[in-house]
Amino acid sequence: MSFNVAIDGPAGAGKSTIARAVAKKKGFIYVDTGAMYRAMALFMLREGVDPADAAAIADKCKEADITIQYVDGEQVVLLNGENVNAYLRTEEVGNMASTTSAQPAVRTKLVELQQALAAKSNVIMDGRDIGTVVLPHAQVKIYLTASSMVRAKRRYDELTAKGESCNLEKIRQDIEDRDYRDMHRETSPLKQAEDAVLVDTSDMTIEQVIDRIVALIG
Ligand code: DC
Repeated sequence: MSFNVAIDGPAGAGKSTIARAVAKKKGFIYVDTGAMYRAMALFMLREGVDPADAAAIADKCKEADITIQYVDGEQVVLLNGENVNAYLRTEEVGNMASTTSAQPAVRTKLVELQQALAAKSNVIMDGRDIGTVVLPHAQVKIYLTASSMVRAKRRYDELTAKGESCNLEKIRQDIEDRDYRDMHRETSPLKQAEDAVLVDTSDMTIEQVIDRIVALIG
């Protein structure tokens, strides 16, 4: 049987950085489910679908074939055969993903893909509903969080380092809005699984978080 680690938590808690590093240490495959929802959002943006039109999103998602490949250990998302990794990390796609991921039709499709990956390999999978819905029997579950101010500051530093101008308060507001949508949607809202270990990274270094999770996996 494969060994599954579920990491859930709000945007900007450091899930992907941590999960990627832990996967490397343990020889597991890292599955970034947010990237799958982002690829679906990219498809909707390209198709000009109105984010407020739930029926159109549910209908259009049938035309999006999303598959995952691993190249040198890195996850590559293919959207109808095209590698779209380079287009997924923008604010526009992130905001659209927050809306499209609320659609049950989108979730059903992507959850199936995620469960198939976890059934055949040892994975560390991050997202919002991994411990609660996708992998309820994961051997280790972690809920990773940090205060919205700390998360906004990390994002601000990331963007500033890339030479992009941005506003800390606006980023914090966007993060809080996205948290609200993710936690209050009807289908698979973000919440800590009852058997998940809470790790608040507000005052922790990346190395401390990695060590803590590696220790939990054992
Ligand atoms: O983690 P991220 O920022 O890449 O996620 C993008 C969006 O997708 C986010 O608004 C929440 C959603 N998402 C989800 O609903 N379920 C998941 N398992 C992963 C992400």
